[in-house]
Amino acid sequence: MSRTLAGFFGLLVLSVLFLVFHHVHAADDIHGGWSEDDIRNMRGLRLSVAGIAGKNRSNELLQRDDAIELGRRLFHDPGMSGSGQVACSTCHRPENGYQDTEFMTFKLDPEARHRAPGLLGVALQDWFFWDGRADSLWSQALAVIENPSEHASSRLQAVRHLCARYSESFPALLKDCSRVDLPGAPVHASPLAAEENWRRLSAAQRESIDKLFVILGKSIAAFEAGLLPGASRFDLYVDAIAAGDSTAAAILSEKEVAGLKLFLDARVGCINCHNGPMFSNSGFFAVATDTPGQPEHDRRRGIEILLNSEFNCLKWGAPENCPKLLYIKKDEAETAGAYKVPSLRNLRHAPAFMHDGRFKNLEAVIEHYRNPATLPLRHVDIRPAALFPHQREQLLSFLNVLGTEDASK
Ligand code: HEC
Ligand code: HEC
Repeated sequence: MSRTLAGFFGLLVLSVLFLVFHHVHAADDIHGGWSEDDIRNMRGLRLSVAGIAGKNRSNELLQRDDAIELGRRLFHDPGMSGSGQVACSTCHRPENGYQDTEFMTFKLDPEARHRAPGLLGVALQDWFFWDGRADSLWSQALAVIENPSEHASSRLQAVRHLCARYSESFPALLKDCSRVDLPGAPVHASPLAAEENWRRLSAAQRESIDKLFVILGKSIAAFEAGLLPGASRFDLYVDAIAAGDSTAAAILSEKEVAGLKLFLDARVGCINCHNGPMFSNSGFFAVATDTPGQPEHDRRRGIEILLNSEFNCLKWGAPENCPKLLYIKKDEAETAGAYKVPSLRNLRHAPAFMHDGRFKNLEAVIEHYRNPATLPLRHVDIRPAALFPHQREQLLSFLNVLGTEDASK
């Protein structure tokens, strides 16, 4: 008797649960099974390149055609490097989303720790480099030229090359070149790379060199601002879903949609950091990718370098343009072991992942999030993401949707 009663109540509870679930589900089932919340979240991830001008306010050359053309030529010009053999495009390969495909940085300098990220959509970022040690795209380029693992040059050499090769073709931009005719001066001079030579130049010469050096950086940045990702299948899918268009189902496979659902799921967590049109919240977080016992090139160190940089927004610009630098988050506990949240667009052709290229494929990245190598006393911002093997495959197939067929866009 009591078993029958228990069975009856059991059935009753199940029916009520079914009705409640069905009701909630039916309410959600507006656009192909997505709720309004999901659609809002997906729209936030849809590609948009609005906002580039606002983020690059300190670059008055951003939209000048001559600067864009000069920047394009400089980007491909090995003549600016110390060896005369390395151009920006040596590491940032245009045919592949401007990513490094051959670990060039590590080949050129075995001590280098970071891999070269892709540059599509780079002008939409707030901070540059994995540790964010540059606060503008143009000052980023200047740091490369004087970095021994990259161009290994100095500002005097770069400016000399700029003037010798380009001042005739770009007279309006490079009129100050007439002031840096320096017969007898050494090849290299810079407060960073060749300090003694730099001090021997007159104050007026140093000022002219710095001004031209900044024009060089701003021209390269003007060119880079035009490097934009193309719409991926994900973007087309969001448009179709938002429009209630029945073709959506043909754009992503069921497996890819399942991966997208996991990506949006707050319990899995990806969306907490990888959000916005570039799948990055522009922040710095610790995801257990530091190497204990080794000098860190993390956000904590990035801030130190940035605040001392002579080309940061406060030192070379108007303070009203620098709110992000004025209110920079310096808390050491939070910045230790933290790296910039990278974009997830166009990862397909990357040779490796994370700032130091520690993972050779996306499977390994997902496995890391499932089971991060956390150590006692180390601050991390992630919790292990509970994912079954089939869910890891779904997530992977979704990440592969975020690229375009033509990898140069
Ligand atoms: C030897 C290889 C190499 C060369 C040459 C090189 N880069 Fe890079 N680039 C890198 C590496 C490695 C990083 C990441 C470094 C870091 O974060 O510490 C990087 C980072 C960047 C970033 C920051 C991207 C981001 O998402 O933060 C930009 C922009 C960039 N490079 C542009 C350039 C430009 C412009 C040039 C030429 C003036 C150039 N690079 C030359 C290897 C290179
Ligand atoms: C707390 C913030 C945070 C969360 C949550 C997070 N990520 Fe990340 N993600 C990062 C940071 C920071 C990096 C760069 C770490 C580094 O370079 O060492 C990164 C790197 C990556 C990369 C490598 C990209 C590249 O160019 O190397 C992929 C892929 C990735 N995350 C996917 C995911 C997925 C999938 C999830 C959810 C399971 C997720 N992330 C959750 C912050 C986060």
